[in-house]
Amino acid sequence: MPDYDPSQLTDAVLRSFASTPDPRTRSVLGHLIAHLHAFVRDAELTLDEWRGAIDFLTRTGHMSGDTRQEFILLSDVLGVSMLVDAINHKAHAGATDTTVLGPFYVGEHRVTPHGTDLAPGATGSRVWVEAGVGHGDGRPIAGAAVDVWHADGDGFYDSQKPDYRLDRPGLRARFVTGADGKFSFRTIVPKSYPVPTDGPVGELLRASGRHAMRPAHIHFVINAPGCETLVTHLFVAGDAYLGSDAVYGVKPSLIVELVPHDGPWPDGSPAPDRWFQISYRFALKAKEATP
Ligand code: BEZ
Ligand code: FE
Repeated sequence: MPDYDPSQLTDAVLRSFASTPDPRTRSVLGHLIAHLHAFVRDAELTLDEWRGAIDFLTRTGHMSGDTRQEFILLSDVLGVSMLVDAINHKAHAGATDTTVLGPFYVGEHRVTPHGTDLAPGATGSRVWVEAGVGHGDGRPIAGAAVDVWHADGDGFYDSQKPDYRLDRPGLRARFVTGADGKFSFRTIVPKSYPVPTDGPVGELLRASGRHAMRPAHIHFVINAPGCETLVTHLFVAGDAYLGSDAVYGVKPSLIVELVPHDGPWPDGSPAPDRWFQISYRFALKAKEATP
């Protein structure tokens, strides 16, 4: 009969997983058990706290499904998503920095002509986004698929609204880069907004005295043959939350200036008296050859 003295319990549990056939699974489980036991030991978790943690995770699971992923949000506000991102994008050889995908990507968007207004009739300052997609060495990439989405002036994504329909997207589109690797669109200047706080993650933020705000940004997912998918944002310079993003997603290289303009839009069409332009060049990383 083994005697599971607390000092030997961790080793006993590690030994019982030691024959896990897949080496990677064995290694990940080993780290998980060692760190989880160290956490419980260091924090001297009480039974009530253990029950509270089980209840918290159960409610997080109940709140997760096809249209809401509270577990990803939990990972985001604990900084785990950005840590996984950092570990997996160490060597990016001149490629654009990556950041979190977030819960409001709904899959491939509808292909839309360059210059399209993504926010017709919406109130807010207007911005023209002019961007290029290329390789790290500067060669443009033609035919890259660029999915774009952002929140409205009240801080909500179309997919958060009760009347949301996949076939009637709002503030989201796909652009395909031309021979020069470029694409462009018009929209409203995004604003900072809170991550959803009506679930367990909101409780966690309130219990810790943390705010839930993300600085204003536009999301991009860019795919091109032979390249790694780029998941990133462009953040608006000057936003009050750039230094305290609730999900730690800001990287200095992704902060862009809104350059004021007057006169017509770059495509010659009539524009409001004052509009802004964001210019950016996205660089994709070549896929590593599989041996
Ligand atoms: C977002 O940018 O859409 C987002 C990212 C992480 C958590 C919540 C929202
Ligand atoms: Fe977002």
